[in-house]
Amino acid sequence: MVAKTLKGLEDLLAGELETLGAYNIRKGTRVVYFDGDKEVLYRANFQSRTALRILKPFHEFRARDEKELYKGACSVDWSSVLSDNQTFAIDGVLNSPYFNHSGYIALRVKDAIADQFRAKTGKRPNVNTDDPDIRINLHISGDKCMLLLDSSGESLHKRGYREATHQAPLNEVLAAAIIMLSGWDRRSVFIDPMCGSGTIPIEAAMMAHNIPPGIYRKQFAFEKWPDFDDALFGKIYNQEHPEPKEKPVIIGSDMSANAVGIARNNARNAFLSKRIDFRVSSFESLTPPEGPGVLVTNPPYGERIKPENIKAFHTIMGDVLKNNYPGYTAWILSSNLEALKFTGLRPEKKTVLFNGPLECRLAKFSIYKGSRKHTR
Ligand SMILES: C[S@@+](CC[C@H](N)C(=O)[O-])C[C@H]1O[C@@H](n2cnc3c(N)ncnc32)[C@H](O)[C@@H]1O
Repeated sequence: MVAKTLKGLEDLLAGELETLGAYNIRKGTRVVYFDGDKEVLYRANFQSRTALRILKPFHEFRARDEKELYKGACSVDWSSVLSDNQTFAIDGVLNSPYFNHSGYIALRVKDAIADQFRAKTGKRPNVNTDDPDIRINLHISGDKCMLLLDSSGESLHKRGYREATHQAPLNEVLAAAIIMLSGWDRRSVFIDPMCGSGTIPIEAAMMAHNIPPGIYRKQFAFEKWPDFDDALFGKIYNQEHPEPKEKPVIIGSDMSANAVGIARNNARNAFLSKRIDFRVSSFESLTPPEGPGVLVTNPPYGERIKPENIKAFHTIMGDVLKNNYPGYTAWILSSNLEALKFTGLRPEKKTVLFNGPLECRLAKFSIYKGSRKHTR
């Protein structure tokens, strides 16, 4: 099977898949390949925090022109994949000198499906690109064509709790990943002082309380497959996830009352209102609990701050961290590396990550009481 993720998260995803029972795990760029049974497939969708979607290959053939492509697609028994009263969509991904239009190759496979159904039953399944019952992927690499079923449907980062967002919301998968990279023990104080729509504290609370990330979703695409095992998915869905003995203090704060209102609503959708302490406060005037603790945040990168204020903003951020957060480890996700230097703090570690198209660094700062050893 193929699990897709964001660039830079392949190691985390491989680790998660292994814990979920996958084997023969191989990492690529933005993908992790693995073997596993139906239970692993369901668990990967329901429990992985870093996967964007899970694809299941079901047919392979070679083709160098559209006739061979059509013939290869006709050799599939499509009635085992979908029925004539279901809708479907096909996405083509090309990396081949033999074909040059991904939309066109998808169209040829669609023709093969429609022709086979029409010949057998006189009826054919309809195409629905927005919300299909069955999503099919066609990957062509050289002359190797692979057909895969998309078992997720909507991307898995769409957990289902985030109804509204504030400025520049973080992808839920990236938020979960940076919390995992921070090594937070899920017991000590956790704080995001610029939480916007609350993605980071909500993902943190889900982790601390062992809540599977897929629990809020209305549906996964595999539930519409002909071989869907309702009892097996029911067992996974209803499995007890024990509450932790010590409930960590999780704080989400933002200077925008509107953002905090949105964050509170999103937390309510995730049934986590009581688990997160939301506050309206500027970072500068927030009084955090005494350390040790972990701070994870993505401050505005610069697109929304006037250039002349970027330096002042980051200098203040560095001073506030030094003065108010002794004993904390701070993890800051930013695409503005130059600006991070104005904090006057030297990062202990920098991890390259991508927030959409923006190349970012997750920078780690250990804040020591009274120590200037790690400051510049
Ligand atoms: C990039 S957004 C955070 C997005 C958030 N992670 C999410 O997923 O929605 C940055 C946030 O920092 C907040 N902010 C900017 N300056 C601040 C300050 N001095 N104190 C507190 N919050 C601040 C903004 O209101 C904005 O919500």
